[in-house]
Amino acid sequence: MSDLKTGLSEAAAAAFAALGLPADNARVTPSDRPDLADFQSNGALAAAKRAGKNPREIAAAVAEKLQGDPRLASVEIAGPGFINLKVSDAALSQRADQIAADPRAGGELVPEPRKVLVDYGGPNVAKPMHVGHLRSSIIGEAIKRLYRFRGDVVIGDAHFGDWGYQMGLLIGAVCDEDEAVRAEVERLNAAADLPAEWMTSLEPEVFGKVSLADLDRLYPQAAAKGKEDPAYRDRARKLTAELQAKKPGAYLLWRQFAKVTRVALERDFHALGVDFDLWKGESDVDDLIPSMVAELADKGLLVEDAGARIVRVAREGDKRELPPLLVVSSEGSAMYGTTDLATILDRKNSFHPDQVIYCVDQRQADHFEIVFRAAYLAGYAQEGQLEHIGFGTMNGPDGKPFKTREGGVLKLNDLIQMTRDKARERLLEAGLGENLPEAEFEDIAGKVAVAALKFADLQNFRGTSYVFDLDRFTSFEGKTGPYLLYQAVRVKSLLRKAEGEGAVGGPVAVTEPAERDLVLTLDAFDAALVEAYDKKAPNAVAEHAYRLSQSFSKFYAACPILSAEPAVRASRLTLAQATLRQLEQALDILGIAVPDRM
Ligand code: ARG
Repeated sequence: MSDLKTGLSEAAAAAFAALGLPADNARVTPSDRPDLADFQSNGALAAAKRAGKNPREIAAAVAEKLQGDPRLASVEIAGPGFINLKVSDAALSQRADQIAADPRAGGELVPEPRKVLVDYGGPNVAKPMHVGHLRSSIIGEAIKRLYRFRGDVVIGDAHFGDWGYQMGLLIGAVCDEDEAVRAEVERLNAAADLPAEWMTSLEPEVFGKVSLADLDRLYPQAAAKGKEDPAYRDRARKLTAELQAKKPGAYLLWRQFAKVTRVALERDFHALGVDFDLWKGESDVDDLIPSMVAELADKGLLVEDAGARIVRVAREGDKRELPPLLVVSSEGSAMYGTTDLATILDRKNSFHPDQVIYCVDQRQADHFEIVFRAAYLAGYAQEGQLEHIGFGTMNGPDGKPFKTREGGVLKLNDLIQMTRDKARERLLEAGLGENLPEAEFEDIAGKVAVAALKFADLQNFRGTSYVFDLDRFTSFEGKTGPYLLYQAVRVKSLLRKAEGEGAVGGPVAVTEPAERDLVLTLDAFDAALVEAYDKKAPNAVAEHAYRLSQSFSKFYAACPILSAEPAVRASRLTLAQATLRQLEQALDILGIAVPDRM
């Protein structure tokens, strides 16, 4: 089942071929002038150029062949040789029936499903999440859902940052503050070999008191001290190396950090409608590192450099010199790039992905280029299988990455609370949800908040930065998430009312211009999905959702539904059902859920 554009492209290709012209020029696209036509083909111009003929003559010959196509109401030639196509009401009606009956709402499956891993979110132990993590989570979740909807086998992995220098900083800071913790770390460290199962099950009581609030308080202080004081930094590096060597005290204290952080993170992500299939961390590949390092050395890729071991990745013809990958630091520690390289190997062994998509802040572009090149050199992936999808930042009014009024990092949890508060306010202002039970109202406010944040982000091409503006994001008017939810809820309530009156959908019979426009918009869903998929740009789906609700809105204003005579009413109800399903599907891909009422 294909959309009209594809069907008409095939007809045009056949017409070009029948005239002995190359069919690759035949592509049909939505018309630039919707007032004149639904679709157009500009192929005659290119074909004429190649054949050294008059483009209008070629267009006329192609048009003549297309004339008899039952799907077309008219075929006209315009300008230097454009072919303008207007689809018949009957063909539109038939296509609408098809979409209405399709559980996939007109979205096709990829011809060959692939295995794709999406690495997104990327939260860290103790370091608060910043706006980069927010965008990564929103965009990554949408890409995961889009790929899955189109039929790929997709795994989303949070790639928890839990094995780097910040761990050493924290171990030091917690020990400095709490003598009992320090003594326990030392006591356990002295017990050189603990049985492996103790290392994963032992939870020393003194460590149990270390809370997320402690880490939140201590981390910024420790990070600042580490920047100023080389001795403090060296100790943190040493402690990181001890952790990575799995000294029991350091390791078990670190497990407590990871545990309390993860509980809070899962709560925040859940509130944002972001769900990972895997919560693997950098630490999970630690066991692979020694053999990986040995293998890199065997392959002649590892070079000694001032006490550290590196892989050089610069290539001839590089415009800029790329630094090498630091595999083992002079303290003997694994670095950010080391765990990333080992993770590529781990994913290859466990999942054999055809593609790995890293949804991470554009500022890490070089890091990924370096890691990917090392992975290709080591044979852990084939050139092109690893892809970094960067994005711009969410900025404050000053044009710099968003900060709180106090100048700090905005915590995701605070952002969600703040948006929820605003959503409640907005709902009440609009007279929505007032009479609903408390719990339902809260659920709606949560959905409006998520829709506001996600749509504000996803309506932009991911490379573009945008300004955080809670008032605008939460408005029920304009191109916003709450507007789309409101439109979807309006259709739901119309359909409930129809059901109450015993009115049911029936075959679509398109007659009015607003009906034509709505069906053409419904038909454009698959093209939006393909564009979003190919460019890894969910904004194409966001754009479609917005266009669809606008088109429905016009239809709703121009075409009475429940008061129409039965056959017309049945046709329009089917259009409303198809719209709702497609709109909910598009929003679901964006990670936005629609309440039943509002
Ligand atoms: N934890 C990292 C950060 O906060 C992001 C992780 C991204 N993914 C990866 N495979 N490196 O910057």
